[in-house]
Amino acid sequence: MSNNLLAGKKGIIFGALDEKSIAWKTALKCHEQGAQIVLTNAPVALRMGEINKLAEAINAPVIGADVTNMDDLKKLFEEAQAHFGGKIDFVLHSIGMSLNVRKGKHYTEMNYEWNQKTLDISAMSLHRVLRTAWDMDALNDWGSVVALSYIAAQRVFPDYNEMADAKALLESVARSFGYHYGVKRKVRVNTISQSPTRTTAGSGVKGFDSFVDYAEKMSPLGNASAEDCANYCVTLFSDMTRFVTMQNLFHDGGFSFTGVSQAIVEGMGGE
Ligand SMILES: NC(=O)c1ccc[n+]([C@@H]2O[C@H](COP(=O)([O-])OP(=O)(O)OC[C@H]3O[C@@H](n4cnc5c(N)ncnc54)[C@H](O)[C@@H]3O)[C@@H](O)[C@H]2O)c1
Repeated sequence: MSNNLLAGKKGIIFGALDEKSIAWKTALKCHEQGAQIVLTNAPVALRMGEINKLAEAINAPVIGADVTNMDDLKKLFEEAQAHFGGKIDFVLHSIGMSLNVRKGKHYTEMNYEWNQKTLDISAMSLHRVLRTAWDMDALNDWGSVVALSYIAAQRVFPDYNEMADAKALLESVARSFGYHYGVKRKVRVNTISQSPTRTTAGSGVKGFDSFVDYAEKMSPLGNASAEDCANYCVTLFSDMTRFVTMQNLFHDGGFSFTGVSQAIVEGMGGE
């Protein structure tokens, strides 16, 4: 159902890998709500070819960009503005990758070179994207930028490994750049801290299925789905949330503020 919340708006969506991706669902919802979209992902992800199905469904061009490469980002913002015939209203940063997790390195035995890459891809990339837009003055006044985070930035989830540090940095960049972009252009920058969600990036975390089940039992509303996360992104890109900025917004069915739930107590043999 469309309320045309994003009628006339133009956005760049990073990170749609396959139909499970949060970015994929968000692109569909934004299109449904009247937005025009440019899709982007790393060249290696584009080679999978899946994204072309999404591009066709929402009539969006696909422009490759490695988010750690400033020339790629500059080209992306130039081509997106040429395609739209003007500036951009919203950006979704839906990107995460941990080399230490992927290569099975325990947090206490971290490889620091891999860690640098993880922080660059998963966190400083938000700074790179914002900086590129800032230098080119590519965002309209009252634009909105959203990046995706996880509660491991605040609480310890041991198997989340170095990604916990990456998410803490990501949330900090959203706050810090959000200040400057707010002053300069009334652009808002927020992170959404999403429930564990069965996607390619999510499933890379050790013990992920147990993680999902635990969060489901701990959350009064249950886990938030990728589709619901996409709906939340739409509200943040819309004009209904113009004064929300520099926030980390929990979209987790109440998990973050629950100490223990009845379901968990019963699972431990209590009443
Ligand atoms: N799945 C979860 O449980 C969960 C929970 C909270 C937050 N998140 C966050 O949501 C975001 C999206 O992840 P997802 O779960 O949809 O998984 P996903 O695997 O579908 O998406 C991750 C994306 O990052 C892209 N990417 C990786 N390296 C890149 C690079 N160098 N340049 C450009 N793009 C690159 C990948 O190609 C992929 O499209 C991530 O930030 C993730 O940490 C996920």
